This record gives sequence, C-alpha cells and structure tokens, in this order.
Amino acid sequence: MSSQALALAGRAVVITAGGTREPIDPVRYLGNRSTGRMGNALALAAAELGASVTLITTVAAPDDRRIQVVAVDTAEEMNAAVRAALPGSAVLIMAAAVADYRVAEVAQRKLKKRDALTLELLPTVDILRSLATDPVRDGLMVVGFAAETDDLEANAMAKLAHKRLDLIVLNDVSRADIGMASDDNEVTVYDAGGVVGHISQRAKPRVAAALLDIIKRRLR
Ligand code: CTP
Repeated sequence: MSSQALALAGRAVVITAGGTREPIDPVRYLGNRSTGRMGNALALAAAELGASVTLITTVAAPDDRRIQVVAVDTAEEMNAAVRAALPGSAVLIMAAAVADYRVAEVAQRKLKKRDALTLELLPTVDILRSLATDPVRDGLMVVGFAAETDDLEANAMAKLAHKRLDLIVLNDVSRADIGMASDDNEVTVYDAGGVVGHISQRAKPRVAAALLDIIKRRLR
C-alpha cells in the first residue's frame, strides 16, 4: 500500500456510532432512528487509512480486527467510554445520535399499562460540550455532526461554536433519501470560517472516505 493510502498510520481515531438508548424500565427505552451506518463506515474508512480505531457504539459494529469496539447503551456510558479512549488520540468523530434526555427515575420493575403515564425527563450529558473546556481537548481534532431539519447552516455554525468543534458535518434530516437510516448521505462540512467542503449524495462508505480525506488533510 502507498504511504498516501496509510495517511493515518500511527494515529488513534475515536468514533461514536448509533443512537443512545435511555432506559425507562427493564424492557423499554427512549431512542432514535440512528442505525450507526455512518459511524461504522467512518470506522472502516479510518482503518483503511491505517488509523488505530476505537468505535464506541450502541449497535452492531463491522466485523474487522482493525477496529476496537466498545459497546454502550446510554449517553452516560458513551461519555465514559469516550473519556477513557481519548488520551493519546488525534481525532474524535461524534457520529452518534446522543439522546438529549434521560428518564429521571428508571423503574426497576416493568411498568404496567395504565390510563396515562407521565415521565420526567432530565438532560443527558452533552459529550462534545463537556470536552470544550477540558485539557484533554488540547491537540485533539474534534468533529461533530449536526442533524437538522430547519435553518441548517445557522444551526450547524451555532453548534460548532458552542461545542468548540474543529469541524461540523451538516446533515439535512428532513430528507428521507439521505441521512439517518438511509443508505446514502449528503453533507456539508464547516469550520469556524464557513464551508470547507460539500460531499454530494452518495453511499455512506463513500461519504465516509471523503470526510476522512478532509480530516486527514487538516491534521498537524
Ligand atoms: N452530542 C453530544 N452529546 C449530546 C448530544 C449531542 O456529544 N448529549 C453531539 C452529537 O454526537 C453530534 C453533535 O453533538 O456530533 C450535535 O448533535 P445534535 O443532536 O445535532 O445537537 P444537540 O446539541 O443535541 O442540539 P439539538 O438537539 O438542539 O439540535
């Protein structure tokens, strides 16, 4: 393989994938439509470039011995796994759809059917935001995703600033043919200065390769 093909050799890359599941009781959870396909594709693309890959995921991971898999369910578990994997890593790519809320009191026994049920929800930890001011952030390239239906660019840029990201990958989730739970994706990538690239609609493995191409060029 050429040295160009192994542009991430010796670099540790941490990738999150899938949607977190926040338990309600022993059999139910709050979840979302994320399938983990984009995160899995990114893990494979990074491994192809020679990176040492840790994939922190709520769903089935690719069967590939180059990828170290950490299985998690909740936002809290994902946060702990990210924190554990970050020291010494060069890149964090948060492709996971992390639930914004968890149930305040998880029932220890299965909830029985009743006329009405009110669940109190509390915010989960914002993993990226919590890293913004952490020393572990120094020298780490942090890439977030923005799944938006409205004011796409403004929301993506606001997230980039708020979470102090190096890059944000914008997904229009109002479209059924791309993004969450689709085979294809189409994304625009921003840094603090604005658009750095647009990846037109294509299969997720090809989007992943194009994204890694943008990321690897920006690594110091
Ligand atoms: N993210 C995170 N921790 C959370 C929620 C999201 O680290 N608790 C990350 C996601 O993995 C993604 C980025 O933040 O890379 C943006 O996620 P998104 O759900 O689009 O943004 P939110 O901050 O949840 O904002 P909102 O739901 O209001 O759009």
